[in-house]
Amino acid sequence: MIGKLEHENHGPVLCVVGARPNFMKMAPILRALAGHEPPVPALLAHTGQHYDRDMNDRLFEELRLPRPDINLEVGSGTHAVQTAEVMKRFEPVVDESGPSCILVVGDVNSTLACTLVGVKKGIPVAHVEAGLRSFDRNMPEEINRVLTDQVADILYTSERGALDNLLREGISPARVEFVGNVMIDSLMANREHARRPAEVLEAAGFDPSIAASPSGYAVVTLHRPSNVDREETLRPLLETLREASRRLPLIFALHPRTRANIGRFGLDDLVAGKRIALAPPQGYLEMLGLMAGARLVLTDSGGMQEETTALGIPCLTLRENTERPITVEQGTNTLVGRDDRAILGGIAEIMEGGGKRGCTPELWDGHAAERIASHLAARLAARGNA
Ligand code: UD1
Repeated sequence: MIGKLEHENHGPVLCVVGARPNFMKMAPILRALAGHEPPVPALLAHTGQHYDRDMNDRLFEELRLPRPDINLEVGSGTHAVQTAEVMKRFEPVVDESGPSCILVVGDVNSTLACTLVGVKKGIPVAHVEAGLRSFDRNMPEEINRVLTDQVADILYTSERGALDNLLREGISPARVEFVGNVMIDSLMANREHARRPAEVLEAAGFDPSIAASPSGYAVVTLHRPSNVDREETLRPLLETLREASRRLPLIFALHPRTRANIGRFGLDDLVAGKRIALAPPQGYLEMLGLMAGARLVLTDSGGMQEETTALGIPCLTLRENTERPITVEQGTNTLVGRDDRAILGGIAEIMEGGGKRGCTPELWDGHAAERIASHLAARLAARGNA
């Protein structure tokens, strides 16, 4: 596989984003490629998997991401339709731009779709955040992760345990490079620009004094299909949140999928009332500020498990498993699943005992993207000189 990098090609690195969690990973990488000496030419392609102002434009602005050079405008669809549409529209972009390498991040449908297009055209693919595994094949992201890592040429990992997962899948260690966590690069670069929680609440039309509540407040996000797509799982989760809101006010940032399902299943009453602030999806700086000021975070997001660990804020993850075990082993994360006693017990423990303190994992130091840029530049230069 690595042999491909020895082929001649001097084109740009074609960087791909598709959905919200890709944006905070790509922003530092683009900056590091541009800041490398000599600069590594790059193009940004946006598949358009996420397109709303709340899910897309606002994050681009706050993360200071450049306007994409290429917009595929794929939009929503079933997994098959979305993946296939990205592939169809991405192929001519690859033909026209003649990239030296395609760089993908994370585990969304766009990650896999663009990887498949690249490898089948003989273009080297670099995958950032490789080797994470939940071992739960019911998660669409797990399928995307496993398949992307099987065929990509360079695998940049964010925690050391990822290498073991890759070796178990028969992947050569020569393809793997431990660089640290680019999401934490973004967090560190933006920490001082994070919005004040009271400001965020006010902007969303809520009483800003929630932020100063004596009990503190909890930030909540939920969007995994396994939690929110069926009434049998969403209803009891919302009932548990309602119960939790007696202990401390909740700021619940609603993903469009979750908002739609609450309406569809007629569950609005469960999240009504003064103790639950139902907000739209938040911008990056808003979410960073809300998390940094929170007593605790309740989430099923992958990225927030890492961000809370970096911020030292206790996190209860509403899933049975995590592809980011380091956040549990070293960080502030605890898996509580959907069990009401585990969730409420976890909250009580944090309220009474302060929760897990945790420490920052190795190479979550704000410089992961620079390590990627140096490594990639060296590989591309070696190929150019061959
Ligand atoms: C996708 C990713 C998931 C990631 C999540 C972050 C896959 C398989 N899933 O899931 O890994 O954690 O993004 O948000 O790639 N919608 C809007 N506006 C938008 C985008 C989506 O209203 O800008 C609606 C769509 O109509 C759809 C729903 O939200 O019904 C879900 O969007 P979709 O992109 O299918 O998946 P996510 O659940 O966001």
